[in-house]
Amino acid sequence: MTVSLTTTGPTVVEVALGDRAYDIVIGRDQLASLGERINVLRPGARTAIVTDRTVAKHWLEQTEASLAASGIASSRIIVDEGEGSKTYAGLQQVCEGLISAKIERNDLVIALGGGVVGDLAGFAAAAVRRGVDFVQVPTSLLAQVDSSVGGKTGINSPQGKNLIGAFHQPVLVIADTAILDTLSPRQFRAGYAEVAKYGLLGDAAFFAWLEAHHAEIFSGGAAREHAIATSCRAKAAIVARDERENGERALLNLGHTFGHALEAATGFSDRLFHGEGVSIGMVLAAQLSAQLGMIADDDATRIQRHLVDVGLPTRLQDIAGFAQEGLADADALMALMAQDKKVKRGRLTFILMRAIGQAVITNDVEPATVRDFLARKLKDARA
Ligand code: GLY
Repeated sequence: MTVSLTTTGPTVVEVALGDRAYDIVIGRDQLASLGERINVLRPGARTAIVTDRTVAKHWLEQTEASLAASGIASSRIIVDEGEGSKTYAGLQQVCEGLISAKIERNDLVIALGGGVVGDLAGFAAAAVRRGVDFVQVPTSLLAQVDSSVGGKTGINSPQGKNLIGAFHQPVLVIADTAILDTLSPRQFRAGYAEVAKYGLLGDAAFFAWLEAHHAEIFSGGAAREHAIATSCRAKAAIVARDERENGERALLNLGHTFGHALEAATGFSDRLFHGEGVSIGMVLAAQLSAQLGMIADDDATRIQRHLVDVGLPTRLQDIAGFAQEGLADADALMALMAQDKKVKRGRLTFILMRAIGQAVITNDVEPATVRDFLARKLKDARA
C-alpha cells in the first residue's frame, strides 16, 4: 500500500448519519480550533467541560482558552481518573454538575479525555434534560480511533462492563494528534491495538502498511495522522451503515469478547489496559479461527508477530502478575464472557477471521470448543 502523507491542515472524516451527521477533525494542534468550530455549529451555546484530573492538568486551560477566545462561556466538571468513574456515583457527579451549571438543551457538553470520560460524559449528556448535545475531544489514541466515534456511551454495572448506556452521537469530534505526545508509551501501545484491529477486520492493505510503518505512528507526524484517519474512516463507514449494532457493527468487537473477559478477570485494574486485553483477544480470536480451519496458522502467527513487534501483550502469561496472581480458570472466563453484551439468546457472538482483513460474525461456535481452547491456552501459559 503506497500512501502519500502530507501535513496540510486537518483531515476531516464525516460520519454520515443524515441530519445527525458530524465531522471528526484530525490533526496536530486542532484543540485550538474548538471554540471557532463550536461557534459555527451552535452559535450562542454555553458549554460544560467534563474531564479527569490528569487530563485537566495538561489540557483544560488550553480548552478553556480556545472557548474563551471565541466568547463561549464554559464551566468544568472534574472526575477521578480511571474506570472507577464509570459508575452510578460518577454519573451522578456529572449529571448534577451539568444541572448546577444550568446546561440546557441548546448548550453543549464537552468530553475532554480518554474512553472513560467520553463514555461517562456522553451518557450524562444523553440523560440530562432527556438529551443535550455533546462534543468529543478524545485525548488517548484509543479514544481517537474508537470510543469517541459512533455514539456508544455508558457506565459499568457491578455485574459487567458498559451494561448501562445509550447510543448518543456527538455533534463534533476533535482528535488533536499532538495531545497524544503526552501519553505514556504503554497507553499509546494499548490504543494502537484498536488501530491494528481495523486492518485485521476489514483492510489487509492497511494491516500490511501498519507492519511497515508502526514506528512512525509512535513517533508522530503524518503517519500517525494517516493511521488515525484510516481507522476513523473505517469506523465511520460501519457506523453509518449499522449505527445500532444490528449486524456489521459487531465486527468492531474483534478481540473484545476474550478481551473484556480478561479485563474483568483482572478486576479492570492496571494489570491489563483495555487495549492490551484487545491485543490478547485478537490473537486468541486468530488462533481460534486457525483451530477452526478458517485461517492458516501462518496468518495467526503473522498477527501475533506484529503485535509483539509494537510491544503489546499477546499471550495470557503476558498479563501483569500472571505468574504471581494467576487468572480465572476456563470456566470462570466462560462465565465472564456469558455476561458480556455480545450474548444473543444464550449464544456467544465471536468475531473470527476468514483472512487478515476479513473478519466475520459468528454465533455458532460451540461453547465446549471455546472452553477447551481457553483451558489449553491457560495450561500453556502456566507451563
Ligand atoms: N467500540 C466498538 C463500537 O463502537 O461499536
